[in-house]
Amino acid sequence: MGILDRLAQPFLFAFDPERAHGLSIAALKTGLPVCSAPATNTKLKVSAAGLDFPNPLGIAAGYDKNAEVPDALLNLGFGFAECGTVTPKPQAGNPKPRIFRLMRDQAVINRLGFNNEGHARALSRLSARQGRGGIVGVNIGANRDSPDRIADYEEGVRTFAPVASYLSVNISSPNTSGLRALQDRESLSELLQRVMRARDEKAGQIGRSVPVFLKIAPDLSEKGLADIAEEVLDKKVDGLIVSNTTLSREGLSDASAKEAGGLSGKPLFDLSTMVLARMRNLVGPGLPIIGVGGVHSTETALEKIRAGADLVQLYTGMIFTGAGLPAQIVRDMATYADSNGLTSISEIRDSNLNAWLNRPLV
Ligand SMILES: Cc1cc2nc3c(=O)[nH]c(=O)nc-3n(C[C@H](O)[C@H](O)[C@H](O)COP(=O)(O)O)c2cc1C
Repeated sequence: MGILDRLAQPFLFAFDPERAHGLSIAALKTGLPVCSAPATNTKLKVSAAGLDFPNPLGIAAGYDKNAEVPDALLNLGFGFAECGTVTPKPQAGNPKPRIFRLMRDQAVINRLGFNNEGHARALSRLSARQGRGGIVGVNIGANRDSPDRIADYEEGVRTFAPVASYLSVNISSPNTSGLRALQDRESLSELLQRVMRARDEKAGQIGRSVPVFLKIAPDLSEKGLADIAEEVLDKKVDGLIVSNTTLSREGLSDASAKEAGGLSGKPLFDLSTMVLARMRNLVGPGLPIIGVGGVHSTETALEKIRAGADLVQLYTGMIFTGAGLPAQIVRDMATYADSNGLTSISEIRDSNLNAWLNRPLV
């Protein structure tokens, strides 16, 4: 942990988690350098879904829900930033408190419920940064009270395709009741068909086919995973994000473990990596996968790649370690590539796939 993080973390921990999050966004908005981003190393470049990522580490959805600070996040060293989840209409989300730090477990439970300012606000911010470069994805969702949730995703595609490097279809938040049912085979088939059709129609207008990633939960059976893989291949979705938060509470010791919501951070690492390996095995070597869940160090970021990920994201790790974490991981990844004689970090992809496949999902 760097000197600034050593000072900033105890300060932020003095506030309740949602207030601390707001303060960290405000700090990034000032544009002041929070830490020095590492120089780009060509060995860390990754090409996936037609995009050229300067390095494989991104900030996961949920930190910058309203697209307020994507460029400041890229300046921290992240190779890409995912904004959202955004829903068509603004919504308040669930009653507070709704984010809980599990200090003993280095984890977070959240039941925010897609609190966000809606499409229009995020769109105007992203339009204003057009032309700046950098890979900025937009994660789209559905309003809680929507009469046709799939229509909300179609609207998300049409709204953000012109300003997003890629889109993520988030059907895996546990905090909007019934949302995860969109992962069931029949609903998923309809959702993906309509989303990909909206994407293709939009491509005709904007002259670019924006890649679409599907973000899934870690709480799925082997059969559920196989169904998703088949649908994703059948509908020619561009990639997967594995995974969102879990409903599991296995192995926790903090008193806040009883809170309802999705669990993220260290305890999610093993489960999300087992699911990642299964999806790599099911979809084959060609489909881009972003591995996310419990990444908190260079070693855990590398292990996601060894388990089958092309790209990696983190969120909760930064809450506990601070804003210097992405730069540190990216720097150490470059050192790792150099000292292991790699020409590209992607050469380690799948090298531990079998070990992760052999661990049973319980
Ligand atoms: C406070 C909080 C809010 C989140 N909000 C979203 C969200 O809006 N959309 C989404 O797809 N994932 C959201 N996530 C999930 C993360 O993107 C990520 O999938 C998950 O936290 C696992 O990664 P981590 O262990 O590195 O945090 C959120 C996570 C946290 C902790």
